[in-house]
Amino acid sequence: MTVGCIIPAAGRGERMGGGQPKALRTLAGATLLEHAVRAMAASRKVTEIVIAAPPDQVTSIVSLMSSLRIDARIDVVAGGDTRTDSVRLGLAALPSTCTTILVHDAARPLVPVDVVDRVAAAVGDGAPAVVPVVPIVDTVKQVDEAGQVVRTVDRSELRAAQTPQGFSAEVLRNALSTASLEATDDAGLVEQAGHPVLVVPGDEEAMKVTRPLDLLVAEAIVRRRSGRVH
Ligand code: CTP
Ligand code: MG
Repeated sequence: MTVGCIIPAAGRGERMGGGQPKALRTLAGATLLEHAVRAMAASRKVTEIVIAAPPDQVTSIVSLMSSLRIDARIDVVAGGDTRTDSVRLGLAALPSTCTTILVHDAARPLVPVDVVDRVAAAVGDGAPAVVPVVPIVDTVKQVDEAGQVVRTVDRSELRAAQTPQGFSAEVLRNALSTASLEATDDAGLVEQAGHPVLVVPGDEEAMKVTRPLDLLVAEAIVRRRSGRVH
């Protein structure tokens, strides 16, 4: 099984602010993107990585990656207007020899290698689509437009989806080739295309960096990993 990885990194990071693409924000001395690429390449299974970069940052990201010194082959392409478009553009650049494809957000820089291996292994074992998930900790309310609670959703049935999400190449190509589909994650597209999606345990350290507070949490995780804080 040849495992390829697409890293959508072309978002503007509007919720983070700061006037810079989020993937290029610094966390503990390296960009979120460098952390994410290293985290994926930490899995020995991953041999090909394609980054969908902000279109005006392709050259700078190529040079950033050339200093990374990792074994996987890295390609950088211009991303698109939506996350789904960026994944489509990344997929087009991935070698057709990749039978398993992992899609991982640059915004999840600290995903543990166990999660990457678990997702890749489940696809290797025959699952067409695999999503790492964690339980929801908040009580979740469905609300209407008037600001009234419609109901309290049964939390025990809900999970928060993380990345990397893993797919057999054929299933992902099929879902992404349907131009009308749009979703906030890739498994959402695959579900809409009618394929079953398996869940495996995610990890709270695979948290998404979305707002400024998330960067502080990510920094604390890096400090804890380096043994300075327990
Ligand atoms: N992404 C992408 N292309 C887009 C939009 C998003 O490649 N047109 C990527 C982001 O770079 C990120 C991942 O998809 O790695 C998840 O998106 P999100 O966390 O929403 O990041 P942003 O879109 O950058 O943030 P925001 O929505 O706050 O602007
Ligand atoms: Mg976004």
